Amino acid sequence: MERLEIISPDDWHLHLRDGAMLKAVAPVSAAHFSRAIVMPNLVPPVVTGDDARRYRERVLAALPEGSTFEPLMTLYLTEDSDPDDIETAAKSGLIKAVKLYPAGATTNSQSGVQNFDKVRGIFERMAEIGLPLCIHGEIADNDIDIFDREAEFIEHVLDPVRQTNPELRIIMEHVTTSQGIDYVKSAETGLAATLTTHHLVINRNHILAGGIRPHYYCLPIAKRESHRLALRAAATSGDPRFFLGTDSAPHIDTAKQSSCGCAGCFTALNSMNILAQVFEEEQALDNLEAFTSLNGPQFYRLPANQTRLSLVKQKEPVGFPTNIPTDGGPVTVFDPGFPVFWTVEAT
Ligand code: DOR
Ligand code: ZN
Repeated sequence: MERLEIISPDDWHLHLRDGAMLKAVAPVSAAHFSRAIVMPNLVPPVVTGDDARRYRERVLAALPEGSTFEPLMTLYLTEDSDPDDIETAAKSGLIKAVKLYPAGATTNSQSGVQNFDKVRGIFERMAEIGLPLCIHGEIADNDIDIFDREAEFIEHVLDPVRQTNPELRIIMEHVTTSQGIDYVKSAETGLAATLTTHHLVINRNHILAGGIRPHYYCLPIAKRESHRLALRAAATSGDPRFFLGTDSAPHIDTAKQSSCGCAGCFTALNSMNILAQVFEEEQALDNLEAFTSLNGPQFYRLPANQTRLSLVKQKEPVGFPTNIPTDGGPVTVFDPGFPVFWTVEAT
């Protein structure tokens, strides 16, 4: 039996939702992760400091008794966001980042940014106060091929934003392309990326070859195999610019298995198990702690966790539930498609 003890991990990109879904998924994340950057794309979105304060209360109320899980709140950037409100929320410690969704790019992004000139003042204020910007890096333009949207975003939006605001610290979230990896590596400071568990595991064939598999559909969509390999290399390298953001994004099965299915993979339940397997395959178990527990806090300028978590390699493959129940219906758990031998013990 092999055992690996690491500093407790954090999830630097998580969808906890609200209501019945929040109640079902918050304990799942809290079972393995100590903290999470909580996405603000609720309906309506979490735009103001007051919205975030109230949402945080609902998240805390959904946790099991005695849980020490810490939700790190974010605000959803709109063209009408108030820089003073953002600054107050940041200085009070309530929020740890602002999230930029290009309008129309993904789930509940309608209130996002269309005209980047309108948020220039906010970027300047964020740079001044050292508040990081999380970016969903896809061009939201139906004329651009869905598989090219990340690379186009880097060239036409992200790079110009960085040139204009060199002091703004940016997290390019859920990078799915080798262009994204190369771009992050080209930056000396102020730029990092989160990588999801599922994008280290699936490529676009998993979604589309031999039948359409809605539970592998997420945004940004998984790309071809060469990109997946670039993501795996970056994740397992120990490079401090890359860290885990699961983007665990639960939708009830009826919303996924539909003629127009929602984007999102629910990975919170088995991410740590799958990552141990992936890092073992890449002979990089020594770098797992950097990816899940050290690089994120370093970029966010937060202390690493005090607690620890053990991963234990079993003789037989571990079984995961196919779904978890919620009051709205079941949510399918991400299936990596290969045997996973690692279990998790929070200590
Ligand atoms: O797959 C995704 N699901 N990507 C996103 O950007 C949003 C998320 C969601 O909220 O469902
Ligand atoms: Zn997301």
